[in-house]
Amino acid sequence: MESYINETSFFGYATAEELLKEYGSPLYVYNEEVLRSRMKEMEGVIEKYPFTANYSVKANTNIEILKIALEMGLNADAMSPGEILSLLKAGYPASKIFFVPNNVSIDEIRFAFERGVITSLDSLSQLETFGKNFRGNKCAIRINPGVGAGHNEKVVTAGKKTKFGISEDDIDKAIEIAKKYNVRIAGINQHVGSQILDIKPILAAVTNFLRIARKFDDLDFIDFGGGFGIPYHKLSGEDRFPLEKYKEELVKILDEYASSVEKVPLFKSEPGRYICAEGGILLGRVHALKENSGVRYAGTDIGMNVLVRPVMYDSWHDIEVIRDGEVVLPSSSEKETVTVTGNICESGDIIAKDRELPKIEENDILAVLDAGAYGYSMSSNYNSRLRPAEVLITSDGGHRLIRRRDTYEDLLDRF
Ligand code: LLP
Repeated sequence: MESYINETSFFGYATAEELLKEYGSPLYVYNEEVLRSRMKEMEGVIEKYPFTANYSVKANTNIEILKIALEMGLNADAMSPGEILSLLKAGYPASKIFFVPNNVSIDEIRFAFERGVITSLDSLSQLETFGKNFRGNKCAIRINPGVGAGHNEKVVTAGKKTKFGISEDDIDKAIEIAKKYNVRIAGINQHVGSQILDIKPILAAVTNFLRIARKFDDLDFIDFGGGFGIPYHKLSGEDRFPLEKYKEELVKILDEYASSVEKVPLFKSEPGRYICAEGGILLGRVHALKENSGVRYAGTDIGMNVLVRPVMYDSWHDIEVIRDGEVVLPSSSEKETVTVTGNICESGDIIAKDRELPKIEENDILAVLDAGAYGYSMSSNYNSRLRPAEVLITSDGGHRLIRRRDTYEDLLDRF
């Protein structure tokens, strides 16, 4: 596809220019229809058995997006009290929230407990802490299944070299600790990694987890985790995650499991990126062009404080160039190889290195695609920059502000 923006009519009735004029630059723009369709896909991954897709909200915690997720029938995973609060504020009942923290204080576990949110404990020591404080109650535990996957070492969240979960070898110990405090292990969860486009490792992780599940007596739920990848190279034709094929293969694995157990528990998944990455575009403005030692630079206001993924993981985000309200199509324009940088005082502040793009002019708008997940949620005020506003293109093609931009007062009022 030449332009994702044109193909999806991403900005509805508005142009990128109008949006920046109204809400400031840079700007996160979300498309409600794209979000809804991805949510619907994830919600329907398992149809034959009781199933809930838990939106892993760390990908994007905008409360208006959480409200849409709730409407679309998604449950949610929270990683912190702040995420629990955001979910409650969006109208989520505690029963639809699953707290999956890592290395937290008893105060944070209590925070969830007092609100009726079930917690997954990530180590034997945290299970012990839970038992001592909440004797006779129920919890879940996160298992490290011993294998991981993902787009970058930093996002592999299972396997022998990661900090997550209770290792399979320690399950007997976990069951013992639970017994000691009369705690019921009501569910188990895993998450092997992120941005997985191949169904094989995800299916293997499901099969493996169902084998592990047999070590427990009476589970209410089994949560297979998230990690479903999205095509970040969509402009050059990268394939989507083969969801239908995945569903077909998954149900065979579940059938086999269901036919061999007395009670089929509720199955869960924890997708984050798949829900919201493609529903978000980051817009920014080109303020300076230059050439340093043979390298052409386009200097923008999209700093690493706004979108850190390229700097943190060398992640690729497709970029479209917008001029006079129109996408400049690569097929009908002169092209150049350019390094797109931000306005942060770090030489690593690069959004795209040596990228072939339509020749950029000053004042052009750049649209960074697939920025809806781990974009705003990982943004910061580094260099005392203001975090951008977030705008939703609603299903009727209109738009509305769903988070205001930081102000200078916001920066100063904590002192
Ligand atoms: N469940 C757990 C326990 C997780 O740790 C994560 C992500 C998810 C679910 C959702 O994974 P997803 O479906 O989004 O792949 N900041 C990185 C991704 C870090 C993911 C951390 N855990 C990035 O921008 O690529």
